[in-house]
Amino acid sequence: MSVHQSTHLKRITTHILQEMKKRKEKISMLTAYDFSMAGIVDAAGIDMILVGDSASNVMAGHETTLPITLDQMIYHATSVVRAVERALVVVDIPFGSYQGNSSEALRSAIRIMKESGAHAVKVEGGAEIKESVIRILSAGVPVMGHLGLTPQSIYKFGTYTVRAKEKEEAKKLLEDAKILEECGCFALVLEKIPASLAKEVSAAVSIPVIGIGAGPDVDGQVLVLHDMLGITQEFQPRFLRQYADIRNTMLKAVGDYIKDVKSEDFPNQEESY
Ligand code: KIV
Repeated sequence: MSVHQSTHLKRITTHILQEMKKRKEKISMLTAYDFSMAGIVDAAGIDMILVGDSASNVMAGHETTLPITLDQMIYHATSVVRAVERALVVVDIPFGSYQGNSSEALRSAIRIMKESGAHAVKVEGGAEIKESVIRILSAGVPVMGHLGLTPQSIYKFGTYTVRAKEKEEAKKLLEDAKILEECGCFALVLEKIPASLAKEVSAAVSIPVIGIGAGPDVDGQVLVLHDMLGITQEFQPRFLRQYADIRNTMLKAVGDYIKDVKSEDFPNQEESY
């Protein structure tokens, strides 16, 4: 029996995710940005879908996640929610829509929840965005934190290399994780940090910790769908496992179609009215 059949009607909630951490059942998460892909990922039995601001890269072709707007994130989230029956859908609040202004943070979170029907939002940062996190949570909106490599701050970091390798940064990351837990975040993403630090954070907080490039000793894993399917083949970080070669499968299929059109093999009589 497939995962989809066995768990079809049981919607994943933040409470179920907490229970999964308690019983040490790993949590699976992938990104999706549109109806068709989200439907496939959900049918396969994924626990959480992230409508990531990585849509800025993989869907819109931008170099960073900074340009994507709140309206564009809501468009992607709405399409994903329409397809999903089981997974918990988390939506990134985009750059410039929550930092430094808790009223704007609340407004952005409420727009996402109300207009898309998603189940939670995600924000990047620790102590510096505490006020915004508390304000969003006070409206009853579940919040997921994101620490380590936070792509919305790429111009501050100047590089996409592993974060928190030094003692000071590792100490701040652990403190930030505890702050986000105390605020009431239901889960955390840790991106591209040493596996030993991710293990320490996961043991130090009671909320699920989902890693991307954070090693095996966390409560779950997340990858960008287009990377793990081999659609975006130029991005090959060490933490990425490629599960399919969809780019080359598509190149061949489209190439065959072009050949058939040019040679007048397509459409044939059976394919005509
Ligand atoms: O936007 C995104 O896809 C993310 C993941 C890398 C966690 O934030």
